[in-house]
Amino acid sequence: MSGSESESESVPPQHPAAFPSAFPSAFLWGAATSAYQIEGAAREGGRTPSIWDTFSHTPGRTAGGEHGDIAVDHYHRYREDVALMADLGLNAYRFSVSWPRVQPTGRGPAVQVGLDFYRRLVDVLLARGIKPAITLYHWDLPQELEDAGGWPERETAYRFAEYAQLVGEALGDRVEQWITLNEPWCSAFLGYGSGVHAPGRTDPVAALRAAHHLNLAHGLATSALRSVMPARNSVALSLNSAVVRPFSRDPADLAAVRKIDDLANGIFHGPVLHGAYPDTLTAATAGLTDWSFVQDGDPAAIHQPLDALGLNYYTPALVSGPAEDGAAGGPRADGHGASAHSPWPGADDVVFHQTPGERTEMGWTIDPSGLYDLITRYAREAPGLALYVTENGAAYDDKPDPDGRVHDPERIAYLHGHLSAVRRALADGADVRGYYLWSLLDNFEWAYGYEKRFGAVYVDYGTLERTPKSSARWYGQAARTGVLPGVGDVGGGGA
Ligand code: FCB
Repeated sequence: MSGSESESESVPPQHPAAFPSAFPSAFLWGAATSAYQIEGAAREGGRTPSIWDTFSHTPGRTAGGEHGDIAVDHYHRYREDVALMADLGLNAYRFSVSWPRVQPTGRGPAVQVGLDFYRRLVDVLLARGIKPAITLYHWDLPQELEDAGGWPERETAYRFAEYAQLVGEALGDRVEQWITLNEPWCSAFLGYGSGVHAPGRTDPVAALRAAHHLNLAHGLATSALRSVMPARNSVALSLNSAVVRPFSRDPADLAAVRKIDDLANGIFHGPVLHGAYPDTLTAATAGLTDWSFVQDGDPAAIHQPLDALGLNYYTPALVSGPAEDGAAGGPRADGHGASAHSPWPGADDVVFHQTPGERTEMGWTIDPSGLYDLITRYAREAPGLALYVTENGAAYDDKPDPDGRVHDPERIAYLHGHLSAVRRALADGADVRGYYLWSLLDNFEWAYGYEKRFGAVYVDYGTLERTPKSSARWYGQAARTGVLPGVGDVGGGGA
């Protein structure tokens, strides 16, 4: 692509021919899931409750009181789920290991039954030519560790490193791609700030402490994994770095962007990629904490060389400075649910605006240019680091037609637009190695319960029967050919 295009220019989804069409032949075409959202089998094999079991069984925390006790029963149906991916033509799968399935109390030796489940899953994936990518933490902290203080306590970072080492020892011989944490922003700021996620606490200082201890956990786990795994394996972190845009060029709006960018992005990529928290972040939160929980040696422990960075993207944010009348900003709704408490410590005056444009069932504006901006930003922020889109996708109100087929043209258009943005970033020199669609299956969407369907594969929650949607066939064709089909073409083959 010519370098004359501005970063924020939107990707025209209808004109794929405007971009070089084929993706690199080694590109990974994957799907992503997480343990609590799909596995079920909540009390099997010695598994004990995680914070999400406790939270979802607490009245009023999730839509309809829904929980992951059974979820989509992937624990028992993993062979069928792997076969679905193989039949579609996917060559990669990102899943998470349930910490309380492998180390129920968050301490001590690993439970063999738990490890065996993941070993079987990996072996079935490898036998079908699908490259596994393990996420060690996708939000299901053993409840016992939360009872001991959770992520605001330093000890939790040491516990995580030990757990990471146990899983690395067991599976490092057959899994090459490792991700320590999924979206630590959500764990810290939705879990301990706005409280819309488990464990549902609403303490801004606890949220900042949690963010630091998640960073420390990432750094210690990276070292622990490297100490037990073959050198060829790749260690990464998946961030939901925000694409933050100013409402206007007004200095107050640009200052609002700085604040949110620090709290969403710099708080993680600062120490992880550059070895320090941004000064603007510590200054903006000085009224809440002096950051004395950052101990000598922590920046070095966190600043481990990484092999790759995972980027999760759904929608951009549009912010402005304080309202003229002095009214406080928000958001009270942060995309994963509404709360009276802000997930942005020290930035209560920032106003969040709805980005114009069409929205998905989550109310998230569809804007593929945000994915292009995110990738190219991190290509500059972390030169030399391989990048993966570790999550991207959309929820729609999918329903089977009278023949039992599920047509989801909106999701095809969403995927087409976002994969075109990835292709454009590649053409502009970004080292993007793969894309994981969120999600393989309809699943438990956290505080929203089962009401939001993100799957490329439809799940009937009565029978747990799986039906690939037309988007799954479209995506499978892209994966098999390395070229995006047109939006009206769901192609042949597939499921
Ligand atoms: C991400 C989460 C994932 C799912 C999607 C929609 O923030 O990592 O589990 O909830 O959003």
